[in-house]
Amino acid sequence: MKQLQTHKKDLNKARVISKQIDNDIGPGEVLLRIEKFSFTANNVTYGVAGDTIGYWKFFPAIENLDNSWGCIPVWGFAEVIISNNENIEHGERVFGYFPPGSTLIVKPTNVSKQNFIDGKEHRKELPRVYNNYVRINAERNYDISMDNIRALLFPLHITAFCLCDALEERNYEGASQVIIISASSKTAIGLAQGLAEKKDTPKIVGLTSKNNTQFVKNLGCYDYVISYDSLKDLGNELSVMVDMSGNQLILSSLQKFLGNKMLKCLTVGMTHWDKSSTAEEALAQAELQERTEFFFAPTHIQKRYNDWGKKGYNEKTTIFMNARAKQSLNWMTIKEISGLDNFVQTYEEIVSGNINPNEGIVVLL
Ligand SMILES: NC(=O)c1ccc[n+]([C@@H]2O[C@H](COP(=O)([O-])OP(=O)(O)OC[C@H]3O[C@@H](n4cnc5c(N)ncnc54)[C@H](OP(=O)(O)O)[C@@H]3O)[C@@H](O)[C@H]2O)c1
Repeated sequence: MKQLQTHKKDLNKARVISKQIDNDIGPGEVLLRIEKFSFTANNVTYGVAGDTIGYWKFFPAIENLDNSWGCIPVWGFAEVIISNNENIEHGERVFGYFPPGSTLIVKPTNVSKQNFIDGKEHRKELPRVYNNYVRINAERNYDISMDNIRALLFPLHITAFCLCDALEERNYEGASQVIIISASSKTAIGLAQGLAEKKDTPKIVGLTSKNNTQFVKNLGCYDYVISYDSLKDLGNELSVMVDMSGNQLILSSLQKFLGNKMLKCLTVGMTHWDKSSTAEEALAQAELQERTEFFFAPTHIQKRYNDWGKKGYNEKTTIFMNARAKQSLNWMTIKEISGLDNFVQTYEEIVSGNINPNEGIVVLL
């Protein structure tokens, strides 16, 4: 068994650990061989919020006596190589949440033709959407050529869908502009594209680094694109902000500039995690606290599951995701990396913010 592990107190430090283990699995359990996974700034945030939200708990690190190492969860595909579960077939493939490693043992419960939930004891208290595995064999219109895009964009654009839906439901908080911070991130792009196809939306303004400005403009889904060092170009009007950056300096400047015209700030991510001291501070420091709200996609997903039922939820999200996947062919190039050892350098680059926004990293195992 092989795992890429991250030092919990210093995300820049990673190591690859190999250990010979027998493939003994318990009754009802299934051994999965992980085929491939994606890696973006979102995965870095899983590490940043590893303790606060509990992301370190999903996949315990091996050879980790002092508990200083953790596995940052990733999204990808795996194949069943041993099954002790009468409902799960040897050789079938699944899509879901994995450690960045070679294998994972799950204990399928709530098994249907379409999916199952990993019922391992240590995952029970964790958000259910992360414990769900989609069974590929049962998928209608499954297209293997979309696997990489799905691994990359599903977790991000499901959040983009939720944000579009929540903003529309709240009538954009009465704002005349939606300001999206860290506009070059894949989650932000999905959100801007989703808003752009709706009718009667406020102006969509993207804030990004100077280097990424042209890329973001070329996407064509933002009405205005402004770099972080030109915030004075922003219109001083009623605004709702969607923040993917967690950058306190930018947030404070915006709040000072907009004053009471900042109606609401939805805090979604921390792409600029290294510019703030801790996850808690990034989420809590905002000056206008009562107008700041942490947006956690799994909570919104659960709400819409209850409102629309599974079928209604699946129909709406599938339409959204397919549209975004098709658009991604125009802006995202997939870069495949073979093996965990070869991925370490790219991991370090992503953690240090050296990210090419038009690139999607997929690791093949
Ligand atoms: N709350 C939720 O449920 C939820 C769900 C999904 C995603 N998210 C969050 O959404 C955010 C975006 O994730 P993603 O995977 O879409 O990102 P991504 O595509 O990998 O983002 C790349 C962009 O992030 C910025 N960036 C990344 N690291 C940086 C650093 N160290 N310093 C400065 N800028 C950095 C840059 O954008 P700019 O130059 O434009 O700033 C860069 O172009 C993440 O923080 C993620 O956690 C939250």
